[in-house]
Amino acid sequence: MRILEAAGVWKVYETGLIRVEAVRGADLAVEAGELVAVMGPSGSGKTTLLSILGAMLSPTRGTVLVEGTDLSRLDPGELSTLRRRRIGFVFQAFNLFPALTARQNVELGLKLRGWPAEDVGEEALKSLDSVGLAQRADFLPADMSGGEKQRVSIARALAGGPRFILADEPTGALDARNGKAVMDLLSRRAREAGAAVVVVTHDSRIAAFMDRVVHMEDGRLTLGEAGRVS
Ligand SMILES: Nc1ncnc2c1ncn2[C@@H]1O[C@H](COP(=O)(O)OP(=O)(O)OP(=O)(O)O)[C@@H](O)[C@H]1O
Ligand SMILES: [Mg+2]
Repeated sequence: MRILEAAGVWKVYETGLIRVEAVRGADLAVEAGELVAVMGPSGSGKTTLLSILGAMLSPTRGTVLVEGTDLSRLDPGELSTLRRRRIGFVFQAFNLFPALTARQNVELGLKLRGWPAEDVGEEALKSLDSVGLAQRADFLPADMSGGEKQRVSIARALAGGPRFILADEPTGALDARNGKAVMDLLSRRAREAGAAVVVVTHDSRIAAFMDRVVHMEDGRLTLGEAGRVS
């Protein structure tokens, strides 16, 4: 089953006199159970593209279908429901709520996903445990290391088992061992739970975990072959 189908996606940012063509005609399709890496230099448009695929930013042109739903046909309320319920997004900058503990951050994600209040506590702990952070559940973000915060943001994105997972440099703040653990977790979501996973990364070792690696340069995507860096 095709989870994502994006065609001809363009994004032009216009701020004052400056015009940036951040994404220039990207096409990408991802099936259930598939892991895709997006690699490319800083400023090439990776976060912009991921935000569009994750229904957080609308493209200037082009279409994005998530599980067959054309995002351009949804009103803002419907878009936000789709985003909260069906998509797990790991932000490059973590985006944790500073006044909430690790556990509360993950619980909030589950509540937004529509989980009943009585179930979120247990699921949140399970998700924190899957990134090795059960013992940090009651810590505030300010009291955690960068890598721990990154793992909380991953636990929040993966809690509740979304079928479409987008992760923006999810191992950027992690050491090799934790980075591998996170990639194992993401590949299990694809292999065992049938999620479609798109990961932006600068780390070529991560390519080894992927079915496909696509390259982004100057807003353009070039498709790679299975398991190979193109
Ligand atoms: N909100 C915005 N308004 C104007 N320009 C923007 C905005 N967001 C990003 N850009 C520009 O668009 C281009 C692509 O940015 P983007 O964040 O998508 O790159 P990236 O590939 O994720 O880079 P990095 O690897 O550093 O995270 C950059 O030139 C950036 O300056
Ligand atoms: Mg980025």
